[in-house]
Amino acid sequence: MIRRLIALSLLVVTPLGAASAQDAPVPDFAGYIARAVETVIVPGFAEVDAAATDLSANLTALCAAPTNETLATVSTAFQRIVVAWAHVMSLPIDPQSDDEIVQLYADAITPRTRLLMVCHMVNITGQILPVGKIADMARARGVDVMVDGAHAFGHFDYKIPDLHCDYYGTSLHKWLGAPLGAGLLYVRHDKPTSLWPIFGDGANPADDDALKLNHTGTHPVHTDLAIADAIAFHETMGIERKEARLRYLTTYWTRKLRGTRNVVLNTPADERRYCGIGNVGVSGMLATDLARTLLDRYQIWTVGIENAGVHGVRVTPHVFVMPSELDTFVKAIGEIAASA
Ligand SMILES: Cc1ncc(COP(=O)(O)O)c(C=O)c1O
Repeated sequence: MIRRLIALSLLVVTPLGAASAQDAPVPDFAGYIARAVETVIVPGFAEVDAAATDLSANLTALCAAPTNETLATVSTAFQRIVVAWAHVMSLPIDPQSDDEIVQLYADAITPRTRLLMVCHMVNITGQILPVGKIADMARARGVDVMVDGAHAFGHFDYKIPDLHCDYYGTSLHKWLGAPLGAGLLYVRHDKPTSLWPIFGDGANPADDDALKLNHTGTHPVHTDLAIADAIAFHETMGIERKEARLRYLTTYWTRKLRGTRNVVLNTPADERRYCGIGNVGVSGMLATDLARTLLDRYQIWTVGIENAGVHGVRVTPHVFVMPSELDTFVKAIGEIAASA
């Protein structure tokens, strides 16, 4: 039974410190990782136990003879733990209703499920998920919900507590425009006591204080200071106007391309399910080739995505992009699709 949850993703960082200490006695990181993993994972979860054993063995090798190869083996073993730990789902791009998405998550829950990890806005397609409804469903089944809101914050209008999730993490350097490295972790008020921080903090905040999860080492104060300026700039637009503008731009170019021969839209058609991110592909063409063609031939920057069943370029016009510039993009896709 999982009693407490820790941040798994930090574990592989630990042995790198050991690797630089040539003559120092090798600390027992392998045992530490194995214990930590056992703590997190339900005992008896065979795949994870096997992966944890493998990770421990490889960590011993890494600590004894640190090389790129041993590090790569450890990373692979760690990935296997995460994959065994997680049940990964795929989503329909054009769901009939919110209930269809909620049901997908409900169907994925088993008696062993402790945590749902839900993307607020899918980074590769721009799809916005009904996270509040998913969280209500999960809570009724005793499952916690962690929301990845990396692309949602400062992009469209919502308040985190209204989503009823247990945890919400987001970058502030994406759509809020704060300096690189700024982020936000929301932990619902009744949650900190059931969490262990992966790094203990000398300041020793109380067990029910979310700050105990915030050990950051030497802190880049300049980044924090500029968050206030980013918020001030954001407020000059206001979230309603920013959201409306971003959605207007995506609607503008996607409507022109929908239904065009050889053009595949990987973003929902329903306006409530997208905002400033869209994704479009051309049949029979690798997304990376499409992105390169757009850049080389038309000087248009996009990101080619070949991932999780999505084959297309991600298009993210910001508030300052003009419809006439999107016309250039639409024309370019039309020409490429016509000759595909
Ligand atoms: C959905 C999603 N989650 C998390 C991240 C990681 O965010 P960051 O690079 O700010 O750490 C990204 C980055 O693009 C993302 O798209």
